Amino acid sequence: MNTIFDNKQLQEKIHDVAELADYLWQKGWAERNAGNISINLCDILKDVTVTDLEKYPEFKLKKALPGLKGGFFFVTGTGKRMRDLARNPLLNACVIRISDKGDSYRIISQNDINFYELRPTSELPTHLGIHEQMVKNGSKNRVIVHTHPNELIALSHSPMYKSEDVLNRILWGMHPESVIVVPRGVGMVPYEIPGTTDIAELTIKALADHDVLIWEKHGCLAVGEELFDTFDLIDTLSKSAQIFIYAKSAGFEPEGLTENQLLDLKKAFHVGGY
Ligand code: 13P
Ligand code: ZN
Repeated sequence: MNTIFDNKQLQEKIHDVAELADYLWQKGWAERNAGNISINLCDILKDVTVTDLEKYPEFKLKKALPGLKGGFFFVTGTGKRMRDLARNPLLNACVIRISDKGDSYRIISQNDINFYELRPTSELPTHLGIHEQMVKNGSKNRVIVHTHPNELIALSHSPMYKSEDVLNRILWGMHPESVIVVPRGVGMVPYEIPGTTDIAELTIKALADHDVLIWEKHGCLAVGEELFDTFDLIDTLSKSAQIFIYAKSAGFEPEGLTENQLLDLKKAFHVGGY
């Protein structure tokens, strides 16, 4: 019998998530179960109906999401290690289907063993809340990546770097790529308890102005159309944060790109209306 897991495009996405999970582990951003990834599969599974839907376990959502009714999402599992996901994605992540009312989901796993030992990430309220907002906005974004990049987290521990204006000026100034790849800059979400609807709400709000955010003293979250481009947003900012911290650790104040150099870059790459 054919299942959704025979879908070639879905297989490619799962392969990509596994590859990204390995990058995150290699980068040192994925201690234990740190980080989570989700993909809206609406384009890939739009004409799919799951036979025997009732046989899959059903779980209530903390908050109903009518904008996602009937939708499918690939989500990493809670408590699962990125390094395990890289080797065996389907034991460490799952596909969920949102109910026709939008108030619950079922885990569509490939084999029955996963049913009770695999649950979606604890950050599901944030992931699904963002996906719903992106669908509402008519956005083409389908991907959300949350990870724990060391240097960006370190900067969020200092009152000196919590202002978005100050932090973006520093990060853009450390390397020309930053302003080209992340022209809207990074947003700063004040500390909240992970996995709550409070962090979900603050995150959705902040994404109105940014594609990548720092969760104060916790990690980063980025949204995008494709998985690797979304990772690149965090990776590029992380590089700038590393250069900044290297310079400070070496005992000097990094000069950073000058206002004129930044302006010339924006003009050359048509960033921010230039
Ligand atoms: P999960 O294992 O539930 O995905 O949590 C990891 C994490 O990074 C929480 O913010
Ligand atoms: Zn986290």
